[in-house]
Amino acid sequence: MGFYDRYVGPRIVSCLCSLEDVTEQRRLVLPKAHGVVLEVGIGSGLNLPHYDPSKVKRVIGVDPGEGFLALGKERSNNARVPLELIQAPAEKIPLDDNIADTAVLTYTLCSVSDPQQALREIRRVLKPDGTLIFCEHGKADNASVIRWQDRLNPIWNVLACGCNLNRDTVGLLAGAGFQIGEIERFYLPRTPKPVGFHCRGVASPSA
Ligand SMILES: C[S@@+](CC[C@H](N)C(=O)[O-])C[C@H]1O[C@@H](n2cnc3c(N)ncnc32)[C@H](O)[C@@H]1O
Repeated sequence: MGFYDRYVGPRIVSCLCSLEDVTEQRRLVLPKAHGVVLEVGIGSGLNLPHYDPSKVKRVIGVDPGEGFLALGKERSNNARVPLELIQAPAEKIPLDDNIADTAVLTYTLCSVSDPQQALREIRRVLKPDGTLIFCEHGKADNASVIRWQDRLNPIWNVLACGCNLNRDTVGLLAGAGFQIGEIERFYLPRTPKPVGFHCRGVASPSA
């Protein structure tokens, strides 16, 4: 891993992920988490302050990104919920089947190398009656915005540590067999449209 991806990129990405409008999304989704929580791509731990300690038994954070994990050290040490961090990719989660009540994906599906394999792994680790909570930016609902997303993606991907602007979050979830229970699609305010198109919701692993 180069200097930029280890030290510079994670700082820039974490800064963007801490903006007030993004933090508001965290406030909306994370209180839904309960029991044993698998947070995939926990990064610098920006979700940690938003878990409800009266509902969450334990958070298991999985992320391969050394630079992101290092940035989150202080937040991890001060977490209000029991926390276990595992440096591993979503595509190969070193955990047993059916152990998590909740899986959390926030601003991560855009960055994993193989989203289909990552979702298969999340389904495996999630209990059959578990819940996936997601909030992701991705492929927009408008042809002109999608064209811009496709044009900008090659440079964005390099600057934003592997993040993609044009992933079809809902298509990927459905393709992996998740049943979408709640969903809202919207443009984040005060954000350029190619980055701002969001999907936020709850899904369950269907049979
Ligand atoms: C934009 S950051 C978001 C971090 C965090 N989820 C949040 O909401 O702030 C993307 C994260 O995805 C992680 N990531 C990249 N590839 C991954 C993979 N294959 N498996 C799991 N996480 C991955 C990165 O290390 C980084 O922490």
